[in-house]
Amino acid sequence: MRGLVYLPFQPSAAGLACDLVSVQLIVERVGTPAYIYSARAIREAYRALDAAFADHPHAIHYALKANSALAIVRLLRSLGSRVDANSGGEIIVALRAGFGPGDIVFTGVGKTRDELEQAIAAGVGTINAESPGELERIAALAAGMGRVARVALRVNPDIDARSHPNISTGLRTNKFGVPLGDARQLYLVHRTTPGLRFVGVHVHIGSQITTPEPLVRAARALVSLALDLRADGCALEHVDLGGGLGIAYEGQPVLTAAQYAAAVLPELRRLDLPVVLEPGRAIVGHAGALVSRVIDVKRYPDGRQFAVLDAGMTELMRPALYGSYHRIVPVVPRDGERIRWDLVGPICESSDAFATERELPELRVDDLVAVLDAGAYGAVMASNYNRRLLAPEVLVDGSEWTLIRRRQTIDDVLALES
Ligand code: LLP
Repeated sequence: MRGLVYLPFQPSAAGLACDLVSVQLIVERVGTPAYIYSARAIREAYRALDAAFADHPHAIHYALKANSALAIVRLLRSLGSRVDANSGGEIIVALRAGFGPGDIVFTGVGKTRDELEQAIAAGVGTINAESPGELERIAALAAGMGRVARVALRVNPDIDARSHPNISTGLRTNKFGVPLGDARQLYLVHRTTPGLRFVGVHVHIGSQITTPEPLVRAARALVSLALDLRADGCALEHVDLGGGLGIAYEGQPVLTAAQYAAAVLPELRRLDLPVVLEPGRAIVGHAGALVSRVIDVKRYPDGRQFAVLDAGMTELMRPALYGSYHRIVPVVPRDGERIRWDLVGPICESSDAFATERELPELRVDDLVAVLDAGAYGAVMASNYNRRLLAPEVLVDGSEWTLIRRRQTIDDVLALES
């Protein structure tokens, strides 16, 4: 199985299945649109990454931002994962899911004073600091609380991740981190600052990275910095390579966990320190699908054919926001010729489209389709635009399935308003 990726949504005699459960059966109960996830896919993706780094001390801190449904976070905890939290809310989710504060790295380019105070009071494992000003705020808050905050500085190595520009974070023009060249001086300046203890160095150059070179260059830069800091007398406990490992949205093989590890391990071996990884997408991306019903079909005189779905950018924003590709499959495919479809959502925006000119069998009103590889950055990025209600989420485990989040109601939404 090493190197192979388990894809949970496969055709069966009863139409599309997630592991051993019929997708149609689930949505007959929970309605559409709905997110369905496979526990097996999450387990296998986690274990593949864990196995890939088995030869080097490592800690996987799953990036909650990819999907922080409590049931999924608990599942990851049962596998031995730790977490990367990006907000006060995600810290609470981690604690509710049973993680200890020491299991949390707290990242994020803009942490409020309240969030920093929350993180320091909880005693999170590491705060990944993003700027000289943030280091000073952390120090002042911690000293005021009689605490010592464990910090790592996020460096910006000016490396092109060769991913979509909106999800690249490692160029000097990006808002993230401190320039690599400034880091050593900052560690020196703050070596004796009360309230601060440097325990690591951190880098995260972007997401959906599918070639090893940028990741290797980032690892090399980070390890070199850590070696310099050691020469300066700074005793670090880890180096944090961030997340970023991509997945095969188009079905073509991309960098696997094993290839990723093989590429960065020679750099990590220059230093006898554990590595922290912050994967999100690579753990949950393939595990989830958004299932939706066709609510209208129409044909223009020029031959263009639209299938209007009951899910749109409010449920899965990635195609509208990044022009990103998701495989789409009918739950029960009809026989006959394949036609080019524009698969669009119901929102009053032309960017609300999942795919244009996608070849699929005939679709009719009330047919079900599944938008695949939507486990990461799907449900978590949903909104109530047009007063639409957050979709339910279901977790399949073998032949069982559980509703892990019910559909939001209009009363849930209006409860916040006077
Ligand atoms: N660590 C840090 C500091 C991050 O900012 C991120 C993602 C991760 C780890 C996890 O990265 P991953 O392994 O998932 O690539 N909404 C976008 C992705 C945004 C990623 C933001 N940061 C999308 O739908 O493609």
